[in-house]
Amino acid sequence: MSVKDRVALAIVDGAEERGELKVGGTLVEATSGNTGVGLAMIAAVRGYKAIFTMPEKVSKEKQDTLRGYGAQVVVTPNGVEPDDPKSHYSVAKKIAAETPGSYYTNQYHNQDNTNQHYKTTGPEIWEQMGGNVDLFVAGAGTGGTITGVGKFLKEKNPDVKIVCNDPEGSILYDLFYHGEVRTPPASYHVEGIGEDMFPECLNFDYIDDFVKVNDKEAFLLCRDITRKEGLMIGPSCASALAGAIKYSEKLEKPSNIVLMFADNGSKYLTKTFNDPWLLEKGIL
Ligand SMILES: Cc1ncc(COP(=O)(O)O)c(C=O)c1O
Repeated sequence: MSVKDRVALAIVDGAEERGELKVGGTLVEATSGNTGVGLAMIAAVRGYKAIFTMPEKVSKEKQDTLRGYGAQVVVTPNGVEPDDPKSHYSVAKKIAAETPGSYYTNQYHNQDNTNQHYKTTGPEIWEQMGGNVDLFVAGAGTGGTITGVGKFLKEKNPDVKIVCNDPEGSILYDLFYHGEVRTPPASYHVEGIGEDMFPECLNFDYIDDFVKVNDKEAFLLCRDITRKEGLMIGPSCASALAGAIKYSEKLEKPSNIVLMFADNGSKYLTKTFNDPWLLEKGIL
């Protein structure tokens, strides 16, 4: 289960309603895993085929989960420019173009993604917090979560601050503050957040601030929280927590902070809880 399951459902429902996805069709997506799992579950239930492309860095557990649901997984090299024909984006587009009856779910640019968070995640947060939200912190992969939730919360209360935790290596921080890429994109190990291109599901109008979080901070906090709080969260969740802790230094009064924990840590056992891997990557 992850925050992307509801997005996958909205994307498939939208495509069916518009007649863009027909019985027996094939879902194609470039996914770091979680959207793929959501789509794979729906494909299994509704009788679609599914093909997913992802960079090598995606954990083996996530790749195997997709195969477990019956999907085909195509692994592409890490750290390749988005426009490069070998990138997971380019390979997904090519597969979609060459596969009859396919639907390219296009999670980075498909507005069914952002709208789903506007229609469901935002209202759920508002209701569960009884309207007492001062700050919402989340990472941006497609940007659907932070944009959809941010739009909803700001419509309810324009004083709610929306903050994005962005991995070192992602270009989003530079684009937000400088309107251009000043530090070239670099590969990093936290999955699902940060970008090397600008996704149309992300709208900076609903974001107030960005906080940089590096791999070391995210992975070490991830282990710490699991062992101290009994919460086995994923690295992108720990990145949000690290971002919230950094940002909270700017807060002038006690505040209600909502974090998006997008998935759980059991998907990353070979990374977060694997000391040799962490040592090899210079994190431990
Ligand atoms: C683990 C994880 N965290 C965070 C996100 C970011 O969510 P969004 O795509 O809505 O920006 C994703 C998206 O795939 C994810 O897989």
